[in-house]
Amino acid sequence: MKIAIISDIHSNYLVFKKAYEDALSKDVDLFLFLGDYVTDGFDANKILDIIRSSNCYAINGNRELSLIEYRKNKDARWDKYLQFRSMKYGYESLNQENLEYLQSLPIYKILNIASKKVCISHSTPYNVRGDVSSDSFEVFDKLIEDYNCDVYLFGHEHKCYYTEYKEKIFINAGSIGLPTDGLPFKYGILTIDGDVKYEKIGIAYDYDELESYYKNSDYYKEATIWCSLLLMTMKSGENHPQYFMDYVCTKAKKENIDISYAIPDELFINSYKEYYNLCH
Ligand SMILES: [Fe+2]
Repeated sequence: MKIAIISDIHSNYLVFKKAYEDALSKDVDLFLFLGDYVTDGFDANKILDIIRSSNCYAINGNRELSLIEYRKNKDARWDKYLQFRSMKYGYESLNQENLEYLQSLPIYKILNIASKKVCISHSTPYNVRGDVSSDSFEVFDKLIEDYNCDVYLFGHEHKCYYTEYKEKIFINAGSIGLPTDGLPFKYGILTIDGDVKYEKIGIAYDYDELESYYKNSDYYKEATIWCSLLLMTMKSGENHPQYFMDYVCTKAKKENIDISYAIPDELFINSYKEYYNLCH
């Protein structure tokens, strides 16, 4: 049984499609999609249409949960602040059918695949927003105690790893949309046939093509700062959105600006100008 593991697409339709076709060309039997399909772009419907038409199991990540939460309780900040423009665009770009599909997904699943017990979750079955890295042994111990699976598959970190611990396997397939552990974009193929084998697959993509795909979109016009940070990540494999947010927090502290509710637009714009100059 050959299984493709794809996580953290973040609406990057071009690279996702290339990875999906690459997996099909390698004759995979099944896809496991580990969440964060949506937001950070404009083509999530196309991605979700492919996912829904594939032979797969899918679970939700934190981005899906944020949109589902917004659907229930509209957050006024999403209308008001530049900081939230990208999320709002991501929400509004989804059709009802796909929103309902996301709402139907669980946050984890225990699967029996070719006589192996496999747990899939975006972060952990306990929390879609937790941090699990290659040496999170306390988390691994709890997962073994609670689920006793042979293989645990994670997304969320955008950093791939493979760890064997107490005769169990813990894998993060990395991110196919926004890798932060360097380029290329990544997914994985798990083969279960008595034994378990894992292969990390890198997908290279021409940056100029990605840049024009994003920069010619309404999404770019609407959420220019955020999209520019995403492009910096696609070019370098570094976590620019996170570094930028750290930069904003430091600047806010220095200038005594309260950002606990939202980042004022002026601070968001000025921080971006400074951050961009530091990086170029
Ligand atoms: Fe993610």
